[in-house]
Amino acid sequence: MDTKALEEQALAAIAAATTVEEIDAARVEYLGRKSDLKQALRDVRDRETGMTLNATRDRLESAVAEREEALRRAALEQIYAEAQVDVTLPGENPPRGRLHILTQIQREIEDIFLGLGYEVFHGDEVTDVWHNFDALTQPPGHPSRSQHETFYFDDETLLRAHTSPDQIRVMESREPPIYMISPGRCYRRDTPDATHTPTFLQVECLAVDKGITLADLQGTVLAFSRLLFGPDREVRMRTSYFPFTEPSVEFDVTCFLCSGAGCAVCKHSGWIEMGGAGVVDPDVFRNVGYDPEVWSGFAFGFGIERIAMLRHGLPDLRAFWENDLRVLAQF
Ligand code: DAH
Repeated sequence: MDTKALEEQALAAIAAATTVEEIDAARVEYLGRKSDLKQALRDVRDRETGMTLNATRDRLESAVAEREEALRRAALEQIYAEAQVDVTLPGENPPRGRLHILTQIQREIEDIFLGLGYEVFHGDEVTDVWHNFDALTQPPGHPSRSQHETFYFDDETLLRAHTSPDQIRVMESREPPIYMISPGRCYRRDTPDATHTPTFLQVECLAVDKGITLADLQGTVLAFSRLLFGPDREVRMRTSYFPFTEPSVEFDVTCFLCSGAGCAVCKHSGWIEMGGAGVVDPDVFRNVGYDPEVWSGFAFGFGIERIAMLRHGLPDLRAFWENDLRVLAQF
């Protein structure tokens, strides 16, 4: 066999290949199992010939590899060139999602209280008569206990009607001092109207320490509402009654619509109620095993929708739960 002529012929075929398939064909023909070169290698008898043939095979193998690499690169470059992106074409503009307005407000409230040194607790929406009523000293026969007001699963189990059971849960689980808020969903058998929905959000607050007074409650709520509504809104505290606080109060904020002058939204009072509060009743402490001679505390439960209404001037609570994107997209 004329090795030199064979090598030239093979190199020419390799150089002439213009596709990956053609280079494969050349490899089979000149380097494959049935090729003349492989046959000659099998027949080798002397060292000299062996070395020549091996060197030829090595050169052909690297020529094939080199050509193959060049062809692959060229094929890729062609794909890149043809698949060029036309940056002048009009793009798609997918609508951007956002957090629901109530989630935004809830997180803002959490941030404010975290900044005041409180911790955020999340209680269960399914609770029991003890946590929702008894431990809070809600008297037997109180109308809020009835099937008409509260969603029951059975005699003992219910959907929490307020976030106040979370106070009990936290106090049962540890010793004071406690500075916590608990935001979350509550349920009542209310017929939906502008100021009521069967599900709503509250934020509960509980502070238990030595020497806590009503003034601490007042100062905390004032600081909170300044941060939430700005310094111009006024806050007032009214006496009220809750079974689990003594004294009990309610907090109002000047109306977002009339700024206190009186309008239909605030029922001509100039004020909108944020929720109830008070100094924790000693009986509640006794129910969780705290000594009321040692510890005192304040608590409040505010409606998050109320706060959102006050912040954004939305006159109808139902808008928060209907999930009409035309409304939600404004916040
Ligand atoms: N749980 C009461 C309600 O839903 C609100 C409330 C009043 C919460 C006084 C409190 C409180 O923590 O001290 O109407």
